[in-house]
Amino acid sequence: MLDFLGYLKRTHMCGELRASDAGSKVVLMGWVNKRRDLGNLIFLDLRDRTGITQVVVTADSGAAHDKAADVRSEFVLAVIGHVKLRDQGTVNKNIATGEIEVVADAVRLLNDCKPLPFTPADTVLANEEVRLKHRYVDLRRPEMQRNIQLRHKVSIAIREFLNSQGFYEIETPFMTRSTPEGARDYLVPSRVYPGEFYALPQSPQIFKQILMISGFDKYFQIVRCFRDEDLRADRQPEFTQIDLEISFARPEMVFHVVEGFLKAAFSTIGVDLHTPFPQMSYDQAIRLYGIDKPDLRIPCMADVREAFAPANLETLHVDAELPIVAIVIPKVGDLSRKDRDEIKTMFGDRKDAKVFEDIKRLEKSFPEAAAKIRELAKPNAEDLLVVVAGNVLATAANAVTDPAHQTAVRQCQRAYEIYAAAGQLRLALAQKYAERHGAFKHGNFRFLWVTDFPMFEWDEAEGRWNAAHHPFTSPHEHDMDKLESDPGAVRALAYDVVLNGTELGSGSIRIHRQDIQAKIFKALGMSPEEQQARFGFFLEALQYGTPPHGGIALGLDRIVMILAGAESLREVIPFPKTAKAVDLMVDAPTPVSARQLKELGIAVVGKKDL
Ligand code: AMO
Repeated sequence: MLDFLGYLKRTHMCGELRASDAGSKVVLMGWVNKRRDLGNLIFLDLRDRTGITQVVVTADSGAAHDKAADVRSEFVLAVIGHVKLRDQGTVNKNIATGEIEVVADAVRLLNDCKPLPFTPADTVLANEEVRLKHRYVDLRRPEMQRNIQLRHKVSIAIREFLNSQGFYEIETPFMTRSTPEGARDYLVPSRVYPGEFYALPQSPQIFKQILMISGFDKYFQIVRCFRDEDLRADRQPEFTQIDLEISFARPEMVFHVVEGFLKAAFSTIGVDLHTPFPQMSYDQAIRLYGIDKPDLRIPCMADVREAFAPANLETLHVDAELPIVAIVIPKVGDLSRKDRDEIKTMFGDRKDAKVFEDIKRLEKSFPEAAAKIRELAKPNAEDLLVVVAGNVLATAANAVTDPAHQTAVRQCQRAYEIYAAAGQLRLALAQKYAERHGAFKHGNFRFLWVTDFPMFEWDEAEGRWNAAHHPFTSPHEHDMDKLESDPGAVRALAYDVVLNGTELGSGSIRIHRQDIQAKIFKALGMSPEEQQARFGFFLEALQYGTPPHGGIALGLDRIVMILAGAESLREVIPFPKTAKAVDLMVDAPTPVSARQLKELGIAVVGKKDL
């Protein structure tokens, strides 16, 4: 028989009671984490979001004992009792309430619980699909409770900081039109205008810029964004951004604000971040780390081209025009032959580049080069040192007749590929030997600003330039004249904030002049008609007194994931989607009724027709 709560009020949470409470009368409420029945004595671990208290129900408590005998895991109880110090031998140092127990005078059974596929007390984690299907139970696990609490604390800290800096929190619409951030849109059909659709925002980008035109000066929003893109551990189809915009902004002003709120967010777990964060240009990041989101926890790479005499390079079939990149991984120099062969496998069988996985082997034939490599890359005696170099490739027939600048572009591209290949190997090795070098231990937070990104990226498949960030990013003032003549060389006033190799946020100074915005759309291959159709309202708004402005957006989920030391965003989002964009708990997406479709003027073609 279930009991009613009635007028009963709880006096304490389950994680609160201490030795100093001994003797007090208390009322606790929560879930049965575990039950041990010793006949005369029944022990119930009662759990709520603050922790666990051991409840003892003795045979002489009569009705309470009878009730406790029927109780199972995850039943919901109210316990009325008194606090007693535990005997010395039974103190549990693993829990905060471990010095006491509550002796029950009465137990009210507020609800029962059907047998579960897993319980929050299980020591072995259930399969993720099962966890997501029964997310309400999964969220009761202490780890999930901690992650969601952390998320709350982080958002509150950020919100309070931004408020203290004079930012207004302003909401922008979810039912809107496409805001391009490089992914596909989620569309919402209109019933009133059959055949027409709203798009869910990929970000509030255009609205926040319009808010600057409207004079709000400093805006922020902790806002859900929607992107239909391929999912990974650090990507969800709906995720949360800390989005902000500042009028009359310089990049340093944005950096300062972001550093301030990150400091506030990290202080919630007792970490005191050192600000300002270091800065590095995109170009430097590629040369030193082979990637635009460098992980500073392991040493940077070094170009050791000068270590080799031209004759050495010829013997090795190495292209002298390309970088030769040394990678140092601390404390793992003593690899076995098998492990070294594995490095070759990790690097992959590539035509364009090779890896020298054993400097000692290189040393046998090229002792001077090896000595110079050591001098340039500066490994410690116990570190692993490997070298990546570009192969000499047969010259393509058309390359001979190509204009000089095209040859230069190709060479640049090849150099980039060598840096990128070395960068990937560096990260793969660092991951593989994380236990040994210890640099990836939780709590080592290395932030970085990456600046001066290229404005455009060449899209080989489409044969045109794409915006590397988004099309509202301002080109560097000194590169305006190259917009038409040499788009690939135009730098953007764009910046990323990176933490331990993860891009936390991206932003830029925006274009605030209509003529420049139209030029950028043109450089992106958009005809005047297309510009009007997609962004006419925005091009018009830009003409009505737009102040210079800039901003940024950071992924809240990613920040919390790193703070929690979690491996996936799903661990810090209460109700996430799977890697296949499915919500297993509510079972979405689902087909809708024929009537709903008819109302919306939508006909679904069979899957085979897609
Ligand atoms: P961007 O597209 O780089 O910039 O996004 C900013 C940050 O949002 C997070 N993020 C994601 N997190 C989880 N799942 C996803 N699918 C996902 N996509 C992005 C990342 C990323 O760094 N409007 C611009 C910002 C600006 O210019 O102000 C924008 O949205 O942490």
